[in-house]
Amino acid sequence: MESSLTARDRVGVQDFVLLENYNSEAAFIENLRRRFGENLIYTYIGSVLVSVNPYKELEIYSKQQMERYRGVSFYEISPHIYAVSDNTYRAMRTERKDQCILISGESGAGKTEASKKILLYYAVTCPTNDHMATLGDRLLQSNPVLEAFGNAKTLRNDNSSRFGKYMDVQFDFRGAPVGGHILNYLLEKSRVVHQNHGERNFHIFYQLLDGGDNDLLTTLDLERKPQNYHYLVKGNCPRLSSVSDKNNWKVVMKALSVIGFTEEEKLLNIIASVLHLGNTQFGEGEEGETYITTETQITNLAKVRTVPLVLLGVQICKNTCKKMISPLDFEQAVSARDALAKAVYGRTFTWLVEKINQSLALKVGKGCSVIGLLDIYGFEVLQHNSFEQFCINYCNEKLQQLFIELTLRSEQEEYETEGIAWETVQYFDNKIICDLIEEKHKGIISILDEECLRPGETCDVSFLEKLEDTLGGHPHFVTHKLANGKTRRVMSREEFRLLHYAGEVNYNINGFLDKNNDLLNRNLKEVMCQSDNQILSHCFRREEVIDQKRPEMAATQFKNSLTKLMEILMSKEPSYVRCIKPNDAKQPGRFDEVLVRHQVKYLGLMENLRVRRAGFAYRRRFEAFLQRYKPLCPETWPNWHGRLADGVSALVNHLGYKAEEYKLGRSKIFIRFPKTLFTTEDALEAKKPDIGASLILCYCLFLDVFLQLYVQLISLLVCVFLFRFIKGFIYRHEEYCPENEYFLDHVRYSFLKNLRKNLPKSVLDKNWPTPPPSLIEASEHLRRVHMRNMVMKYCRRVQPEWKKQMMQKVVASEIFKDQKDSYPQGVGRLFLDSRLEREQINLKVIQTLANDKVQYGVSVVKHDRRGFKPRSRQLLLTNTFAVLVDRTKLKQRIDYTALRGISVSSLSDGMFVLHLPNEDNKQKGDLVLHCNHVIELVTKLAMMASKVNYVNISPGSIRFAMARGKEGIIDFVRGSELKVTKGKRGHLLVSAGRKVFFIILKNISAS
Ligand SMILES: Nc1ncnc2c1ncn2[C@@H]1O[C@H](COP(=O)(O)OP(=O)(O)OP(=O)(O)O)[C@@H](O)[C@H]1O
Ligand SMILES: [Mg+2]
Repeated sequence: MESSLTARDRVGVQDFVLLENYNSEAAFIENLRRRFGENLIYTYIGSVLVSVNPYKELEIYSKQQMERYRGVSFYEISPHIYAVSDNTYRAMRTERKDQCILISGESGAGKTEASKKILLYYAVTCPTNDHMATLGDRLLQSNPVLEAFGNAKTLRNDNSSRFGKYMDVQFDFRGAPVGGHILNYLLEKSRVVHQNHGERNFHIFYQLLDGGDNDLLTTLDLERKPQNYHYLVKGNCPRLSSVSDKNNWKVVMKALSVIGFTEEEKLLNIIASVLHLGNTQFGEGEEGETYITTETQITNLAKVRTVPLVLLGVQICKNTCKKMISPLDFEQAVSARDALAKAVYGRTFTWLVEKINQSLALKVGKGCSVIGLLDIYGFEVLQHNSFEQFCINYCNEKLQQLFIELTLRSEQEEYETEGIAWETVQYFDNKIICDLIEEKHKGIISILDEECLRPGETCDVSFLEKLEDTLGGHPHFVTHKLANGKTRRVMSREEFRLLHYAGEVNYNINGFLDKNNDLLNRNLKEVMCQSDNQILSHCFRREEVIDQKRPEMAATQFKNSLTKLMEILMSKEPSYVRCIKPNDAKQPGRFDEVLVRHQVKYLGLMENLRVRRAGFAYRRRFEAFLQRYKPLCPETWPNWHGRLADGVSALVNHLGYKAEEYKLGRSKIFIRFPKTLFTTEDALEAKKPDIGASLILCYCLFLDVFLQLYVQLISLLVCVFLFRFIKGFIYRHEEYCPENEYFLDHVRYSFLKNLRKNLPKSVLDKNWPTPPPSLIEASEHLRRVHMRNMVMKYCRRVQPEWKKQMMQKVVASEIFKDQKDSYPQGVGRLFLDSRLEREQINLKVIQTLANDKVQYGVSVVKHDRRGFKPRSRQLLLTNTFAVLVDRTKLKQRIDYTALRGISVSSLSDGMFVLHLPNEDNKQKGDLVLHCNHVIELVTKLAMMASKVNYVNISPGSIRFAMARGKEGIIDFVRGSELKVTKGKRGHLLVSAGRKVFFIILKNISAS
């Protein structure tokens, strides 16, 4: 408001409470018009924000703008949706009370845009971590999805929300958004099967046809042209110039993936099946029977697996009546088809909201604070008003009631806290209209329900008669029969009129009973329960078919959900955004006064202003008032040192305020007329040059005195600190006591500071600053925590490949460490995935192995059991066996399950023996092999065969089995070079590098 005071002469007033003539609607609208002309679309009424749709992009929503409004008091800066967002957020944080922002206005006034801007403000400005950033994305991305399925082009808005939405954003103790939850209200299902001229069905149908790729459309048996679908041609408006269905399709698909959706296919099947259902046509037989003329549609429906084929064909043409099957007539069949399409779409929409809620659900802790956003249909008066408008306008009556109650309550509370007498405010209490609609037994909804349930002939007209009988004479209810001559001329016989708080609306009763019944033939429900599509089988529960209890009627359901909504809103601190649409042509820069006046009226803005201005136009805390106007009074300038109330009193006395112009509360001053305030403001403007000069003088004097004091103070402080330091040093070995506390604290602080700079950077770095004696334990604890942290970070960075390598090395160390001389060398090398290139293994071998894929291959030398002749071979490891290969031939297969053990020497040779079964004499015996990568090979083999515990490391010799029960021994000896030779008595000598081994193979008779 302060900025508004200074800016008031330029573009109207930024807060309507400063309008001199606050009772004048003309002055109100003129203020809106002037500001709108300058692109100033926001104006306050106290804390309520009035927003006029600019119908063009304004550069007032950037990140810098968000920063401008962060943490800044409402009144210090020009009105903005960000100011409301920020204030609500801060109130939630500081007062720890849940908040809600109620956005209202007629269709196209900018409610949804406003709610998106609020969400974006929180997503950008609130503290976050990675998890929360994802949540912020999901919150934002829920919008395109819900808009695709719940919004449509209407005559009034190209992106009209055809459902009401209340969204809770949950914040944790740090003020970070951590969860969300959406409640949806009354989707306009009738749009699925019918659209008025110039309007469209829900966006998703057109997006799918325009954006879906050819394969997808073929799978769904769809054609690209919307004109080919009966449900899309009713409004004769397949395309929109302002919207690209193709681009929006991409946006929606991406949003679905951000939200974590996995059921796209099933969801699109349902959308396609609604279109196929719409194209299902009926004919009438000679004997009046109804049959389906478009069987292909039924086939398509079955193909997309939403509705079982045969059943659907039969069921749409059959009806149950006292458990007997009777043919439906033509009209009944058409309406059963449409009822099915509406039910399928409506329930899928509710399922979608549930799904989004699961994705937004709070994952961490409890104890959150909440900001709720209500974006709900505004008051609607169309040429032809039906059941939907009745519900929408009833909802607005309830919200108006809440608004008046809460605004008056908060005003009254403020007066009470401030100790100021409450002056009664005259306002229209719309409770009488709410009762007219919702009262038990007597209200319109009860009468409608009764009429739906009553046995015997009931129809819309009988409902109207019942209304007339029961409500005739009510001051807010009129019908053609009850009206006087003048009203009769503008009413048809099929209408009833309600005198809403916002104006009169005539409702046409045609369709009221059907829409309230909203019943789906039991057979069709049964069919849907059998659908293969899991979304549908979730939406149509078998229990529902079995349950004999009648479900609640649509209006009662809506009434109950509104009661719950009111409870939710009542439990929170409300803020209001009132949206206004400046023209019907959706054009920037056009301000249609008649249209705006109408909205000002039904939004109750004048009423709101009157309540706000009933007592006082302006109120401000003492300190804020004194701070701003203190230069105007010698007693309060430059500073007031007494009680704030006395300072304000001195100030207003000096300014000559009259008793009727103001009141002092306990912490605030209340000023009755804007004029008083403007005079004070003008005086402040005039005083500014003087204030400037006296400020400079004061500043110079202050600087001089300050410098002198500063020098004295610094010298004193140095002495005090030096003394405490020396004393502390002397007592440093004592327990913590007043004499040494300063010194010890200093030592600890220095250690921690030093530690922060010199923390080890890697797990291998074992340096750690030496702690002072008092911090030894803490230092050790910190060292462990830091080490654990580094290890965790290191582990997180390890790539899967590297992890595999490390696991193998760990096993190698378990087997060989300190046991075999070549281990340090072998383990130091990278273990390769294979030592043989794919081309090195013969194709025939690979073909023979077929499905048993080679996991590892290496060249080995096989020593014959007789004569020990060395032969080149390949050893290939698969998942279940190893195989010894000679070029194209598989020489020997060793099943891992049969492998009895693996022996190696403790020296640095590459010899190893695979011990094989030798139960009978037919067996050839164990395999004696040599490999240059024995550490790697044996490790891999042991791991793959799960035989890590079967590896023996023999220091001197290895015994091995030979054919016919004979046994051989390999003796290992150190030498000067690696050689494998046959000894005189059949010995084989092996020497390697600097270390030399002799391998002596002797035949020893088994006996
Ligand atoms: N602040 C804004 N800046 C620019 N354009 C806006 C703004 N607010 C609204 N609009 C324009 O007006 C159109 C209608 O706004 P919006 O969809 O928010 O209306 P609504 O009140 O939610 O209507 P409905 O009740 O039909 O859902 C938007 O598509 C956008 O083009
Ligand atoms: Mg909307």
